[in-house]
Amino acid sequence: MKFIHLTDLHLTAPGEKLWGLDPHQRVQAALDDIVAHHADAERVIITGDLTERGERAAYAALKEMLDRLPMSYHLMLGNHDEREAYYSVFGGPKDDDGFAQHAIETSVGRFLFLDTLKGPPSSAGLYCQVRRAWLSARLDGPVWLFQHHPPFPIGHPLMDLIPLDDGEGFGALLVGKDVRHLFFGHAHRTISGQWRGIPFSALPSLNHQLPLVGGSVPTVYSDEPSLYAAVLIEENRTIVHSDAFLDRHPAQMAPEAERGNWY
Ligand SMILES: [Fe+2]
Repeated sequence: MKFIHLTDLHLTAPGEKLWGLDPHQRVQAALDDIVAHHADAERVIITGDLTERGERAAYAALKEMLDRLPMSYHLMLGNHDEREAYYSVFGGPKDDDGFAQHAIETSVGRFLFLDTLKGPPSSAGLYCQVRRAWLSARLDGPVWLFQHHPPFPIGHPLMDLIPLDDGEGFGALLVGKDVRHLFFGHAHRTISGQWRGIPFSALPSLNHQLPLVGGSVPTVYSDEPSLYAAVLIEENRTIVHSDAFLDRHPAQMAPEAERGNWY
């Protein structure tokens, strides 16, 4: 099965740029590319920071773009999101306690979409006891986790100021469970590795990035390639491809060169 992972859209009110870039144009370009090249994907999964300031108009613009997709989509909230404004546009899904989290059964196991929004003034994440109870009740069988905040330090001095609170407590819930992969956002960088034996991956934002080394550019954020991921899952195999869709250009070669000799 195939799905698409996107993250950190940071949509503004329509017509408003963010750090010199147009997040609406970025999202539409990504969705157009996904429809053109990955129409066979089962779903699009977006791991939070859907908007920059939680504005209703930004959520409405997002819904309009997503509703044109031929596949289903699943949204999570990040620290830049606002739960009530999100619900006012999307309606849900929400759990019985009002958090924006839900579960679906897929051909490869259960996908769990978590709500790690803590809320202002903090940009860190929170996964409280109520949300933990929801998760703990759904960890039987193979599961795939999707959330905004990483539950561990990622080795970046700025991001490590605002991870998920008590990530080790969160990790303790997963001990002995069959967690196949953790997908998260928040980092505004490509990251992959493993945590407590769980493979994970994260992606850049569709808009602005966080330079790996502070001071390598004179600003806090950087303009580096945006990526989406095409994730391929078969029994005993998970492949996470990333595609720099805005930076994909033909190579300097004749169109017929290097064809027919790949064996
Ligand atoms: Fe973000």
